[in-house]
Amino acid sequence: MSIFDLLKQDHRKVESLLDEIIDHPTAHQKQQKLFQTFCKEIKAHNQGEDATFYEALKQHKKIKDIILKADEEHHAAETIIEQLEKDDLPAEKWNAKIKVLRDMILNHVKSEEKEIFSLAKKYLEKDDLKSIQEQFQNEKENYM
Ligand SMILES: [Fe+2]
Ligand SMILES: [Fe+2]
Repeated sequence: MSIFDLLKQDHRKVESLLDEIIDHPTAHQKQQKLFQTFCKEIKAHNQGEDATFYEALKQHKKIKDIILKADEEHHAAETIIEQLEKDDLPAEKWNAKIKVLRDMILNHVKSEEKEIFSLAKKYLEKDDLKSIQEQFQNEKENYM
């Protein structure tokens, strides 16, 4: 699988976990279990992406700003995730907050798959993409 396929595979997984969490607003235990899986997946994905894919793209001055923005989107999502992890919010508020998180993540993923993927195809060599793919898998495994 190419790095693009691997990233897309993670994106679909994270999206479907978020859908499932949002579909179970009253089943606290089930929701929390799904949320834990979601946290593990998204953190490993973001860590892998930052350390390999974004790191390589950031080396190109012309697109550095776009990558720094995407990086900030990771941080913004992580801040909301931390608030949700504390699980000290009233259920209504928790459920509202995770919907905001889903919107943020859907937007982020859309710009990655539409804009950043095509920049990567333009700016990175085939060999680079291959080594990024291997590094990404290692990074994720180490994190999990
Ligand atoms: Fe991603
Ligand atoms: Fe990302």
